[in-house]
Amino acid sequence: MPSPTRLLALAALIVSATAIVPPGHQGLPNQPVDDVPAPKPDNDLIAQTAGQVDQKAAPPVDAPPNADVPPTGVTAVDGTIANATIAEASAARRRDVGRFGKRLSRFEKVFDGKPAGQHDASIEGTAYLTYTVVPNSTYNVQACLDWAATIDGCVFVNLYYEFNNELLDHVFSEKSNLKCAAYGDLHKASEKTNFGGQASYSQVGNETVPLTYITQSSGWGLDDLVVPDTPDGYELVFGPTGGANNAPGYMGFAFLDRYDVDACAALCNGRGVDPNGGGCAYFNIWRAVVNGVPTTYTCSMYYLVADESTAVNYGQGDLVVTLSRGYRRKDLLTDGGFEGYTACDDFCFTASYANWIGTSPAGGDLDASIFFFHNYAHTGHGSGLLGAAFGDDNKAGTLAPAHALQTDSGVSYVVQAFVSSAFSGASLEAGAKVEILWNGQSVATKTGFTGGYVFVEASVVAAGNDKLSFAGGAAPAWTFIDDVHVYKA
Ligand SMILES: *[C@@H]1O[C@H](CO)[C@@H](O)[C@H](O)[C@H]1NC(C)=O
Ligand SMILES: *[C@@H]1O[C@H](CO)[C@@H](O)[C@H](O)[C@H]1NC(C)=O
Ligand SMILES: *[C@@H]1O[C@H](CO)[C@@H](O)[C@H](O)[C@H]1NC(C)=O
Repeated sequence: MPSPTRLLALAALIVSATAIVPPGHQGLPNQPVDDVPAPKPDNDLIAQTAGQVDQKAAPPVDAPPNADVPPTGVTAVDGTIANATIAEASAARRRDVGRFGKRLSRFEKVFDGKPAGQHDASIEGTAYLTYTVVPNSTYNVQACLDWAATIDGCVFVNLYYEFNNELLDHVFSEKSNLKCAAYGDLHKASEKTNFGGQASYSQVGNETVPLTYITQSSGWGLDDLVVPDTPDGYELVFGPTGGANNAPGYMGFAFLDRYDVDACAALCNGRGVDPNGGGCAYFNIWRAVVNGVPTTYTCSMYYLVADESTAVNYGQGDLVVTLSRGYRRKDLLTDGGFEGYTACDDFCFTASYANWIGTSPAGGDLDASIFFFHNYAHTGHGSGLLGAAFGDDNKAGTLAPAHALQTDSGVSYVVQAFVSSAFSGASLEAGAKVEILWNGQSVATKTGFTGGYVFVEASVVAAGNDKLSFAGGAAPAWTFIDDVHVYKA
């Protein structure tokens, strides 16, 4: 005969088990779903950080010509000044970026240099790329512009003579002091702030070392920045406009050293996860112009997709927002949030609807279903359920999108979702299990009580027309699923 304590424990278990009203009977979760507000950008922090970065550069006096254009760099991350590559600034390593759009116009003169005999200054500006020297028998504008056309992302050149540079005069093979500097942004005569004044020749005896100086510094540019190609795995939502997004679901920002949508996309892909919102789904790139001068290039990341209606931050103080564009990450699922199930306006559920199919094993009853009920959803009102809706069997069901995914064979994707095995409380959910299946193969598993919705993720390589599904649940160890996304990695 069982001891009295064991009897008591058994009785308590039966009471707690019978107290659970199954989801099919609109039972309320033991663990209510948190409604965490979605954060918006910290525009003060962005403006303050823009005041701290110095991205202005000119060809260094001692650098040889024709250096490769370095990859786009990151100069700040979430308000902290940085000097990092895109890969270093991402949670995950990313492939190289650096495709630029097509030039639609021709280089035209932006400003003249001073007359030959007078000292002048070269540009110190953002998005410096590299420089060359062109033959200096004449003031060779055409050679400079021809070269500029071969430099990816170059929209502006600064052409000038640099005197008293020993390397140009005697060391570098080109034997020319006519420098042609390429930039990825347009600059104005007001940015001619580099007057030289550096000692390039070495000291000989007690002779005065001649200092570098600059003459005839002219600027040539396109009429605007190039229209960028849309990054792989993304689509343009709006832009260019003069408004940055002030939208919910903000994850943070980085400053780039040039206007590079591919670099911003790579940062979004590698951003990591917001515990309440999930992965990066959208980015907003814009140029900060301070006192009329390009200063930095902001890449703001969001877990919620925004659009032009919230692109209403036009700047503050001396900072003006320009060239703002929004891009959303292409999601291979059109209804990963189960929001397309709208058979009621309060509480209802179904085994299947147009976008998702729930399947029960033989003898099972509604072991996979879709609910319309705000209290079960991670966001909105729709969610998927694994485990018998009425709790009348303990079999595992399968939820799958109604259609195979339009994937590209051989390409890496990431499957993201929120799952909650919390409905029945810690002890009854202890054995909960949900698997993400890719073409029937398990690619991720989450087991046990989750205490609420938690983020799960799986990396996969597509074969083309791939089939995604979620399997699990064994009532009363139910598992809810919501906000499923499939993105290019
Ligand atoms: C940034 O890092 C690179 C490579 O580590 C270095 O060469 C460069 O001088 C650094 N720039 C600044 C401004 O610190
Ligand atoms: C051309 O550049 C070379 C190397 O700096 C210099 O020695 C020479 O005087 C320059 N010629 C003219 C016409 O400026
Ligand atoms: C330094 O300069 C003085 C006068 O300008 C000259 O007489 C002297 O010879 C110089 N010394 C050397 C080491 O060149």
